[in-house]
Amino acid sequence: MPLLLHHAEAVLTLQGPNGPRAGAAMAELSILRNASLVTAADGTIAWVGPADALPAEHRSLESIDCRGKTLMPALVDSHTHLVWGGDRRDELEMRLAGADYEAIFAAGGGILSSVKQTRAATDDELYAQSLARIRRMRRSGTTTFEIKSGYGLDLETELRQLRTARRLAEEGGFRIRTTCLAAHAVPAEARAGEAERAAFVERICQEILPAVAKAGVADYCDAFCDRGAFTPEESRQVLEKGRALGMGLRVHANEFGHTGGAILAAELNAFSADHLLHLDDDERRALREAGVVATLLPGTSLVLGKPFADGRALVQAGVAIAVATDCNPGSCALESLSMVLGLACYGNRLSPAEAVCAVTHNAAASLGLDTQVGSLVPGRSADLLVLDTPDYRDLVYHAGSPLIETVIQRGIVV
Ligand code: NIG
Ligand code: FE
Repeated sequence: MPLLLHHAEAVLTLQGPNGPRAGAAMAELSILRNASLVTAADGTIAWVGPADALPAEHRSLESIDCRGKTLMPALVDSHTHLVWGGDRRDELEMRLAGADYEAIFAAGGGILSSVKQTRAATDDELYAQSLARIRRMRRSGTTTFEIKSGYGLDLETELRQLRTARRLAEEGGFRIRTTCLAAHAVPAEARAGEAERAAFVERICQEILPAVAKAGVADYCDAFCDRGAFTPEESRQVLEKGRALGMGLRVHANEFGHTGGAILAAELNAFSADHLLHLDDDERRALREAGVVATLLPGTSLVLGKPFADGRALVQAGVAIAVATDCNPGSCALESLSMVLGLACYGNRLSPAEAVCAVTHNAAASLGLDTQVGSLVPGRSADLLVLDTPDYRDLVYHAGSPLIETVIQRGIVV
C-alpha cells in the first residue's frame, strides 16, 4: 500500500553520483528540511521533496506524521558471516580473561569450532538460527545484507550455508548478496602438512568454487588473506578462480598486519578490501587507484581489543569507505549496524555524515546495489528508517539508543 511519510524535520536523501563516494563527497548527505516521502504500491519510492510541494494526488494517502523526526535510507550491512551453527560464548569468556584470538584459532578452536558446529547443524536449524539473527539485525535498521559462507570448508556445507542465505531472501524478504568464503581457514582434515594444505587450496579451486558457481548461489568470492589463514599466493589462486567463474571479489585483508591482502585486492580490482587495521600510504594509494572500497569493521576491533582502522587517513587518501558489522560467531557477534555506525566515529574517526554514507550508499555501491538501495531517490526501493530525533547525529551522540522508530522494507512497515 502506498504510504505518505509527511513533514519530516530532515530527510537524508544521499542523492548524488552512482558508484562509491570518496573524500568530501562522503560527507554530502543531500538533506531536505521539512520534507515528505511517498512510497508506491510496488515498494519503490514514488516521490520525495519539500512537504509543501507534495503533489495533490498524494495528499489523501495513508500517512505517518514525521514531525520532529528524520528519514534516512535503511542500512546496508556489506560484510557479515550471519549463517552459522552453534555459538562460541565460551571462547568469548576465555578471551575476556586474556586468551588470544589468533592463539585459539591456531589451536584448532575459533573458526574451526564454528565449522564443526555448522557441519553438525541441519538445514532447518541453520535457517532458524540465522532467521532469528537477521530479524534482530533488521530491528537495528538493516534491510540489505552481504552473507558469506566459510564455516563449511567442504562442498556440501558451503553449499548449505549459501542456500540458507538465499532462503533468507526468498522466504524472509531480505535483500541479500552472497559470497563464497571457502578460503576462510584450513580445515582440521587438511592440517597434517604442506601437501594437504596445498591440496585443500586445489580443492577450493577445482571442486568447491566450480560447484558453487554451477549452483548459482554466490555473487562474490572472498579469501581470508592473513597470518594464520591464507598467504597472498594462495588467496590469489582462489580469487582468480572465482573471477574466472564470474564472481566479484572481496578480500579479508590486513587484519593482523601488512600481510599482503590490501595490495592483492588492488591488483585484482576487488569490489572491497575489508578490515584494514594495518595500512600504509602505499597500500592506501593502491586501493584508491584500483577503486577498491575499504570496508571497515570497528565492532571487530572493539571485541578483539585490536587497533581501529584509520578512517581519517583513508578519507584523506581519497579511498571510498563502507562500514559493516562483520557479524560472525567469534571475532564480533554484534548485530546492530546502527551501533557500529557510532563505533566508526569513535574508533575509526569518521564524521557522523561520513559514517552514514558508509553504512548506506557506499555499502550498497560495494555490492553493486546502489541504484536500488542506500539513497532516497524516486524509483529506488523504499527501504528506509524513521528516526525519533530531528538530528541524525544522535545516532553517534547516543549510539546504541533505540532511536530507530520504524523500519520500512520495500515499502512495507516491518
Ligand atoms: O572477519 N577474519 C576472519 N573471519 C572473521 C572471523 C570469523 C570467526 O572468528 O569465526 C572475521 O573477523
Ligand atoms: Fe569477516
